[in-house]
Amino acid sequence: MQRSLSAIQPTGVVHIGNYIGAISQFVKLQDETEAFYFLVDYHAMTVPFDPKELNKNLLQVAATYLAAGVDPTKATIFQQSQVSEHTELAWILACLTKMGEAERMTQFKDKASKHAERASVGLFTYPMLMAADILLYDTNIVPIGDDQKQHVELARDLAERFNKMYGETFVVPQPMIKKTGARIMALDDPMKKMSKSSVSPKGYIALSDDDKTIAKKIRSAQTDSVGTVGYDPNHRPGISNLVTICSEITGSSPAQIIKEFEGKGYKEFKEVLAQVLIEFIAPIRTHQAELLADKGELVSILNNGSARAREVAEKKMKQVRSALGIKL
Ligand code: TYM
Repeated sequence: MQRSLSAIQPTGVVHIGNYIGAISQFVKLQDETEAFYFLVDYHAMTVPFDPKELNKNLLQVAATYLAAGVDPTKATIFQQSQVSEHTELAWILACLTKMGEAERMTQFKDKASKHAERASVGLFTYPMLMAADILLYDTNIVPIGDDQKQHVELARDLAERFNKMYGETFVVPQPMIKKTGARIMALDDPMKKMSKSSVSPKGYIALSDDDKTIAKKIRSAQTDSVGTVGYDPNHRPGISNLVTICSEITGSSPAQIIKEFEGKGYKEFKEVLAQVLIEFIAPIRTHQAELLADKGELVSILNNGSARAREVAEKKMKQVRSALGIKL
């Protein structure tokens, strides 16, 4: 059976972009593959963070996984920092990565350019930790949004390089990126990606937003002056983004949605989209709150998942040490 693996950073809230681009794929793949989905708490440390917030976010994201349909009886759900092999392999992969390769990572360039003097070395080596996350588990498929594609490509390059230099050790992973919905844009600025770390909460719909907040954010989402519901991401990014979100949640194609709203304006479309999102998010939000009321169950799911992940990772690291000549 093929193995799928992916992760979410426990920073900020999980939003509808994370769901559409990534989590919706996890839910599907847990039935078709041996699945590993986890919380990358070490990745969350690459930018300044508050330990109390990180602790809260870990449980919040674990609850979101479950509430959105990731099933711990089907998938291994775990915490990165409970499996120390991740940081161990990351060091080895850092030694295999060229400076130029790491410097080309667009996410590093974007984030570092915003806080040049404060950017950490960890932010620079983040893609090697992500490559370790993937390669430790002999992963075949990595379901992700478009923004993580370059990182998975680096993981592929590093796997091939290692295999060539030290002998066949790693499976070369494939990214799995949706045709539509791989890059949901910010509601208040459709030229930018919807992001957890965005300054204004107006840009995203969180899976924990209440009905009123969802309706308000959709009502104020940026569109254009054309006035008709259309789909043309290059020329009309705002309305196209809303159509994409509607399409991904309802399962109707953009063409069907456009047809349905022929002769109607943005206001009517936004009212329907808000309702679609409210009906989709309300049960997730309720389930999340129930799960968070009993921290014990979440912690036990993560501990059990981490024990299972550790078994796989320990075995792989033995192979790696042996290939590198450090096993005596
Ligand atoms: P993170 O936490 O930023 O995002 C989690 C997942 O959501 C996707 N995503 C989006 N998809 C569509 N539209 C958007 N606006 C949008 N924003 C985010 C991301 O592509 C991602 O799939 N480095 C990763 C976490 C990670 C990882 C891994 C992923 C660490 N190790 C190993 C896969 C395999 C990250 O920060 O994702």
